[in-house]
Amino acid sequence: TVMHEAYRPQLHFSPKEKWMNDPNGMFFLDGEYHLFYQYFPGGTKWGPMHWGHAVSKDLIHWEHLPIALYPDSTGYIFSGSAVVDHHNTSGLAKNGEIPIVAYYTIHDDKKAKAGRVDYQTQAMAYSLDKGRTWTKYDQNPAISNPGIIDFRDPKVSWNSKSKQWVMTLAVKDHISFYGSTNLKQWKKLSDFGLNEGDHGGVWECPDLLTMKDEHGVEKNVLIVSINPGGPNRGSATQYFVGDFDGKTFKNDTPGKNSGWVDYGPDNYAGVTFNNIPKEDGRCIMIGWMSNWFYAELVPTEKWRSAMTIPRVLTLRTIGKNHVVQSLPVVEIEETIESTGKISTREVDTLDITAEAKVDVRLSRIQGRIKKANFVFELSNAKGEKILFGLDDVGGKFFVDRSASGKVNFHPDFKLGIQAPRVRDSEWVEFTAIVDVASIELFFDQGATVMTAIYFPNDGYSKLKLYGKNGKVSTDAIVVDELKTIW
Ligand code: FRU
Repeated sequence: TVMHEAYRPQLHFSPKEKWMNDPNGMFFLDGEYHLFYQYFPGGTKWGPMHWGHAVSKDLIHWEHLPIALYPDSTGYIFSGSAVVDHHNTSGLAKNGEIPIVAYYTIHDDKKAKAGRVDYQTQAMAYSLDKGRTWTKYDQNPAISNPGIIDFRDPKVSWNSKSKQWVMTLAVKDHISFYGSTNLKQWKKLSDFGLNEGDHGGVWECPDLLTMKDEHGVEKNVLIVSINPGGPNRGSATQYFVGDFDGKTFKNDTPGKNSGWVDYGPDNYAGVTFNNIPKEDGRCIMIGWMSNWFYAELVPTEKWRSAMTIPRVLTLRTIGKNHVVQSLPVVEIEETIESTGKISTREVDTLDITAEAKVDVRLSRIQGRIKKANFVFELSNAKGEKILFGLDDVGGKFFVDRSASGKVNFHPDFKLGIQAPRVRDSEWVEFTAIVDVASIELFFDQGATVMTAIYFPNDGYSKLKLYGKNGKVSTDAIVVDELKTIW
């Protein structure tokens, strides 16, 4: 494994330098996945926002492109989305091009500093050259501010039921839906969210998905990021399963959310790609792998923050409920360098790295463990470690990064992390993606997901598994050493 730059992920997307937060405007077209992101080229902390840009042919290897959208006298370019307007409903194409229409929030900092409340509006920009260059619409803002401080993060998608574009907008403590047939004029449809789900913080970065469960039943899933108020403090993304009839969203579990896309502390503002081909049919999400509590304080130097590994979301039933499960995209397998296998058996302690003989600093670990109290320990020669596993008595998964290396840059960073076991069964299936300074855990086919970043003073090259109350039974544990993408 080749490692470049301390803590810089080798498999995950990160900017070459400077500050990054939310993924924005993701779409697929002509063999390319486009990723835009909240970017401040002037420093390693949040500042006047731009849309950075990168493209990939496989969701894993990214090519950095020039900044797509710059702030101007009207304000900063906040989060938003993009859609491929195949039928030119917008009329923006004059010579048969396919318009890509992006919606984002203009944040007028001058107005905000002057004490006004109407400083966030929705604006449009479009590209007629497959996302390479962008023109801001000359009639912005397309949606003006109704007098509410938090009014942002437009996510547009085509709603085939009502044959219109639907914009999902985060408005402080609820979601507002807007409809349009031409991507220019928008009509408010409804509000959702007061007295629904978690409200420990402001609602941000929504997304409205149409998904089918394993029985072919179609549902809508409303994704809502919230900051703070996540299950493990700070930022996190809850979701609601229900039905959107083209006008209003009806929650299947009134008052409550249906769960969290990721129960860990470091996956925020995740949204899905537009225009994934029908033959592919995947619902692919990328999130920002950090947390507003400490995102500006993490000990990296030239750059700050990475994205999560792209994940495929699926809708599944557990008893009478629907849950959203997620697993890493299979494209990750292109990066496998070598594979080590562990023989199936019962153990007190299992030295996984000694037996698999692979470098786990950049790796994927998969397998099954019989339900018990088990602990994985990822550690370095300095005695620093991160622990994760199942506390079967408490019925919870956990991550413990209290002794993981640099932890004192924020008082909450070393606190315990827990998540419910959403899909209970005799065996715990798991996939872990380890990339220098992050771990993404997918338990029980992705019914419980936890993402956590960490900053050891030396690479974690050892992985052990042990039982807390006696032996653990393992099955088919496989460790893939992965190759760096750059
Ligand atoms: C979420 C968020 C968005 C906003 C953007 C600003 O992390 O606060 O609501 O558009 O970041 O960078």
